[in-house]
Amino acid sequence: MTGRVNLMAPEVRANPYPVYEELRRTAPVCQVEPGGLWAITRFEDVAAAFKNPQVFSSAGVRTTTAPPWLGHNPFSESMIVMDPPHHMRLRTLVSRAWTPAAVNRLEPRIRSFARILAERLSPEREVDFVDAFAMPLPASVIGELFALDPTMTARYKRWSVDLSSVSGTTEKDTHRHESIKATVREMEDYLSNVVAERRRHPQDDMVSDLVKTRVDGEALSDAEVMSFLFLLVVAGLETTVQLVSHSVRMLMEQPHLMARLRENPSQVGRFVEEVLRYEPSVHGLVRVTTKETQVAGVVIPEGARVALMVGSACRDGERFKDPDTFNMDREGVNNMPFGHGIHFCLGAPLARLEARVGLEVLLSRFTRFTSTGPVKWNTSLTVRGPLSLPLIPHA
Ligand code: HEM
Repeated sequence: MTGRVNLMAPEVRANPYPVYEELRRTAPVCQVEPGGLWAITRFEDVAAAFKNPQVFSSAGVRTTTAPPWLGHNPFSESMIVMDPPHHMRLRTLVSRAWTPAAVNRLEPRIRSFARILAERLSPEREVDFVDAFAMPLPASVIGELFALDPTMTARYKRWSVDLSSVSGTTEKDTHRHESIKATVREMEDYLSNVVAERRRHPQDDMVSDLVKTRVDGEALSDAEVMSFLFLLVVAGLETTVQLVSHSVRMLMEQPHLMARLRENPSQVGRFVEEVLRYEPSVHGLVRVTTKETQVAGVVIPEGARVALMVGSACRDGERFKDPDTFNMDREGVNNMPFGHGIHFCLGAPLARLEARVGLEVLLSRFTRFTSTGPVKWNTSLTVRGPLSLPLIPHA
């Protein structure tokens, strides 16, 4: 491989796996474009870096989530951009409200959202699956979690897209600044009213649980609740949209799997696990080094921006047999798509539940999906997935 690889080049976006494979083999720690980031690509090295927040800091990336042109951004005060010990305090408090029981309670509502969306898909008629199903399903679930006005669902896509694009927006992109600033203001205005309202009149929802929760007599402040809600919109939406979209792409590419799952709906969970590994939603997570360090014999300087390439780790042949084969009969669970260590995804059970229930509903209604156009890929380093997925569902 000559010169630096550009991870955002359209041909790499369309299929990054051969490039990852070559990096793992020839340069498992090296600088790439955009921005001269250091990419770590082998499973073992990615896992070790996740486990070492003292050297690979999440707090270091805060300057990119609240750049001077934006100023204040509650997301950059959330736990995902915190290192120990601050991270632990917030994670403990939030975990009190975010229990497995609270997530499981959502299943009937998720099924009902999925049915409504699936009924709107007309057999034999072309549709953009992202807009019609993959996006509104998790957006409705976030609305349900927060007990928000259902008419707000349509806004979450813009909220999520604008917030996720902060780190990729430069000082020069002035035309984007105003729209992102307006979104942050709109979210703060709307969500601060929700928090105040739930303090006055608690309901049976997550925001009410968050404002009530106590650990050793300590509660979350309004600002901390707000940061967490911002985090959920960013971390919980786009990632799940892509999991649902990738699942349906796999069913289009391998129609025999669709037939198998229609006959054996109890295997949908297994299928989702392999989609998570084979086409992970999250490809690269950025950290900043707090001191000079060595990985796989390569020296990374202090203050370097490092991408932990989850997308590559999930295809590492040292870890997975025949990594480039989609095989839903693999043994064991691979949690790497949800990260590793202290920031391990808090929403993993919810994401798995949404994908499983969404697919069960689609499989009960349709026998096949056929693609009607090329996939257009998004351009975020963190999340990889189709911007639109034109297809025809067949009854
Ligand atoms: C397929 C769907 C999802 C994927 C692939 C995913 C992936 C991830 C990953 C890789 C991280 C670690 C980030 C890091 O180390 O910097 C993470 C963290 C997080 N995720 Fe998810 N996520 C998904 C869905 C969700 C959902 C549905 C929610 C909640 C609604 C959620 C909430 C969170 C939160 C709160 C964190 C931060 C945890 C912490 O900092 O301690 N995620 N997610």
